[in-house]
Amino acid sequence: MKSNKKEPTTSAPTILRLINGQKKLHLHNVIFFALFFAFGLLSGLGVGLYLSNISFTFQLRQFSISKSGPGGGSPVLIRRSDPPPSAWHEMGEEELLWRASMVPRVPEFPFHRVPKVAFMFLTVGALPLAPLWELFFKGGDDGLYTIYIHSLPSYDNATADFPVGSVFYGRRIPSKDVQWGKSTMVGAERRLLANALLDFSNERFVLLSESCIPLYNFTTIYNHLINSPESHVEVYDQLGPVGRGRYNPAMDPVIKLAHWRKGSQWFEMDRRLAVEVVSDRTYFPTFEKFCNGSCYGDEHYLPTLVNIRFGGWNSNRTLTWADWSVRGPHPRSFWRPDVTVGFLEGLRDGGKCEEYGKSVGVAAGGGIGVHYYVNRNNKSDSSGGTGDRGSKCFLFARKFRSHSLTRLLRFAPGVMQF
Ligand SMILES: *[C@@H]1O[C@H](CO)[C@@H](O)[C@H](O)[C@H]1NC(C)=O
Ligand SMILES: *[C@@H]1O[C@H](CO)[C@@H](O)[C@H](O)[C@H]1NC(C)=O
Ligand SMILES: *[C@@H]1O[C@H](CO)[C@@H](O)[C@H](O)[C@H]1NC(C)=O
Ligand SMILES: *[C@@H]1O[C@H](CO)[C@@H](O)[C@H](O)[C@H]1NC(C)=O
Ligand SMILES: *[C@@H]1O[C@H](CO)[C@@H](O)[C@H](O)[C@H]1NC(C)=O
Repeated sequence: MKSNKKEPTTSAPTILRLINGQKKLHLHNVIFFALFFAFGLLSGLGVGLYLSNISFTFQLRQFSISKSGPGGGSPVLIRRSDPPPSAWHEMGEEELLWRASMVPRVPEFPFHRVPKVAFMFLTVGALPLAPLWELFFKGGDDGLYTIYIHSLPSYDNATADFPVGSVFYGRRIPSKDVQWGKSTMVGAERRLLANALLDFSNERFVLLSESCIPLYNFTTIYNHLINSPESHVEVYDQLGPVGRGRYNPAMDPVIKLAHWRKGSQWFEMDRRLAVEVVSDRTYFPTFEKFCNGSCYGDEHYLPTLVNIRFGGWNSNRTLTWADWSVRGPHPRSFWRPDVTVGFLEGLRDGGKCEEYGKSVGVAAGGGIGVHYYVNRNNKSDSSGGTGDRGSKCFLFARKFRSHSLTRLLRFAPGVMQF
């Protein structure tokens, strides 16, 4: 295992972080800095011109560092031995998607490419289960994964970043406001994919929320994903108001009612599909325009796109387990007392896959705007997913509340083996 703890470079974000972090300084620190500043001022006056020369060079270097990275203007070739120092960049949406859409026509890589899994976290704010994920990633090889975090811009400030040494440090990407259920949410997913596509070594792309947990250790999940011949975007056709009822006839003829599909937002896909998603200039604009109000683009855009264009590449199921047996628009949340060894072992049990979906209420009472899922992880149901051909049904699970963290950390080594 190699260490991914890169020494942070003195760059503009670091300075910003220092400035923004000031509110957190204790009084003695403030006094220390005041003394330090006074001392610096005096010596500055003393040494005069000589020092100003050095500080000019220093500023120049800072400038060139902050200008480098994916936004530097020239195409980036990121190699395994040379990971990006930070996921941050200055690119606008248009340039980002354009760069991400590029596919090399020379099939041989000019460097030793080891395929990586991109773990993409789409969060509102904090990542309360970060310590569990830290444990998970530390059991892996840092040459085999990359992390990207998209949180609301209101949260994208320096104090919200992770400490140096964390696997999440510097992995935030420039974000925009998203609204759950709206096409802006799909925009955020495309933005995450685009950022991850800039690294040519990323081969599989997993979308996760702040309430997701891994059910297996890194090695198991990595091997499962890298060897999977299909993408995992849940796709099913649901009749009634919360399925086909959300279709807007104004989408015709680009998207017809028969094309319309539904599925969980939490996907896993391979590189060829990810490139198609960021390059889509037909269906996404249609969604942006006509999937508003009670349409919930995050549950329909990818399933519909994949159904129309890339059905053959897809398993039609999600790898992220959720309990939809409760009635209402959201799956069940798990709190501390819910998390037991037996419960976690149950989620890991491949044999449970065929059982899953039995207790799901079939759109009972689902009015417009109420999300109900008919889970299609039924291997014998030909209208939906056929299940994974392997034995592992779910690699991830949600929704775990922050209160469950201590128990998850306690049971992870024994049950999840990380
Ligand atoms: C910055 O991040 C913190 C979380 O650490 C959040 O509570 C706060 O609202 C953010 N501030 C701004 C100005 O966005
Ligand atoms: C990962 O978990 C598997 C079982 O799922 C186990 O056989 C393997 O030894 C574990 N690997 C590591 C590195 O802990
Ligand atoms: C949705 O978009 C259509 C067409 O652009 C517009 O007429 C309608 O008012 C919008 N509805 C909502 C709820 O925003
Ligand atoms: C998934 O659904 C598509 C249609 O959207 C179909 O062509 C494909 O065969 C299905 N995949 C599996 C594994 O059933
Ligand atoms: C799976 O699907 C088949 C065919 O639709 C159905 O007959 C069966 O009852 C389903 N099994 C479960 C466990 O839901």
